[in-house]
Amino acid sequence: MFVSDCLGLNALGHLTIGGRDTVELAQTYGTPLYVMDEDEIRRACASYRESINKYYGGRGLVTYASKAFCCKAACKIAMEEGLGLDVVSIGELYTAQSVGFPPERIFFHGNNKTVQELLAALEYGVGQIVVDNLSELELLNQLAISHNQKASILFRIKPGVDAHTHAFIRTGQIDSKFGFALETGEALGAVRMAAGMEGIELKGLHCHIGSQIFDIEPFEHAAEVMLGFIAEIREKTGLALKILDLGGGFGIKYLPEHDPVQYDRYMMQVSETVKKSCAALGINTPYIVIEPGRSIVGPAGVTLYTVGSVKEIPGVRTYVAVDGGMCDNPRYILYQSEYEAMVANKASQPRLRTVTIAGKCCESGDLIGERMPLQEVQAGDIIAVLSTGAYNYSMASNYNRIPKPAVVMLRDGKDRVVVRRETLDDIIRNDLL
Ligand code: LLP
Repeated sequence: MFVSDCLGLNALGHLTIGGRDTVELAQTYGTPLYVMDEDEIRRACASYRESINKYYGGRGLVTYASKAFCCKAACKIAMEEGLGLDVVSIGELYTAQSVGFPPERIFFHGNNKTVQELLAALEYGVGQIVVDNLSELELLNQLAISHNQKASILFRIKPGVDAHTHAFIRTGQIDSKFGFALETGEALGAVRMAAGMEGIELKGLHCHIGSQIFDIEPFEHAAEVMLGFIAEIREKTGLALKILDLGGGFGIKYLPEHDPVQYDRYMMQVSETVKKSCAALGINTPYIVIEPGRSIVGPAGVTLYTVGSVKEIPGVRTYVAVDGGMCDNPRYILYQSEYEAMVANKASQPRLRTVTIAGKCCESGDLIGERMPLQEVQAGDIIAVLSTGAYNYSMASNYNRIPKPAVVMLRDGKDRVVVRRETLDDIIRNDLL
């Protein structure tokens, strides 16, 4: 009935998450509020981990893409679940360090890492730096040499695969700001260059074709292309690369009609493809890394809002205004992303209204969604927007100087704040006169 397994209904007809009454949580902590079910996050981690064990003999690592939802608690969960961590900035790395995340399981991504970021990665002993371009390769080589280190790296490659997803989150094609192109010979040139560098040890390749992808086929295709390149590298340079990082991008269910691939099936098919391709190419099967972000945390989250006004414009539409908006969820304004919403305190009633949920920011495009089915609604009701665990808190802003909501985590039916609500003092904290 619900888009996520951690959601339900209680005897009062209220929406529950992780068995807890969302209306009660809204009363306790105020709104807007992000609520995350830690048990659901841990279940997703375990499913991915087990699928690698089952289909690939455990010769791989599930690396949580922390950009989806990064805070100390999220890093700690990934650490305790034995996952690796994908970081893409010094801020994400710092958060990981603050909980003592094992550096060897960290992958540092990004298309324009700064000197400060590369140095921080070297100093913390980050397992793999995923090098994006030649300038970065040269810079990292110099920094590593001057620190008496050999940086362990992967190359980010554009495999030329077009994943069928929103243009802003599609990254595998040649026209992308990320990575080295195969078609132009740029990638092979970089491999040759790295082979002669004193401060660099090239361990493998990485690709990431996009996000919120529902088909397995583009992932299989990307794996084949990458393995073909590993074989070409061996043939032309004698270098045997051992790691293949296939990125993340597995879609989740935002709407009832969405039909995401089960992690298990993804791993089964991709493992088969990898083994077959390696046999055909006469190369050893690599150590595989996958980097799910959205699918680890997305289904585990809901956002709770209080309705301030309901504005019916006859013959036009009904606006339901909530006490948050694009400042805590910019995904509609950015990608026209669709969400399910419900009146949490009337969740057992049928959703007979069709509404536009609007935020409180000073901007007409500040919507959570349009044409959304909803129960009868009035000021004071609690609205729950579902599957907001990924790329909501992590993309939140202080637009209009609105303080960011708290994040409450639920585990075994118990709640705790893992990110406190911003205060007005937080808003002016960095201001100087
Ligand atoms: N690995 C790399 C190198 C990535 O760039 C990403 C996401 C991931 C892994 C994780 O992808 P996931 O499993 O979460 O799809 N803000 C957008 C999504 C941007 C994704 C960026 N990279 C959104 O809200 O839809």
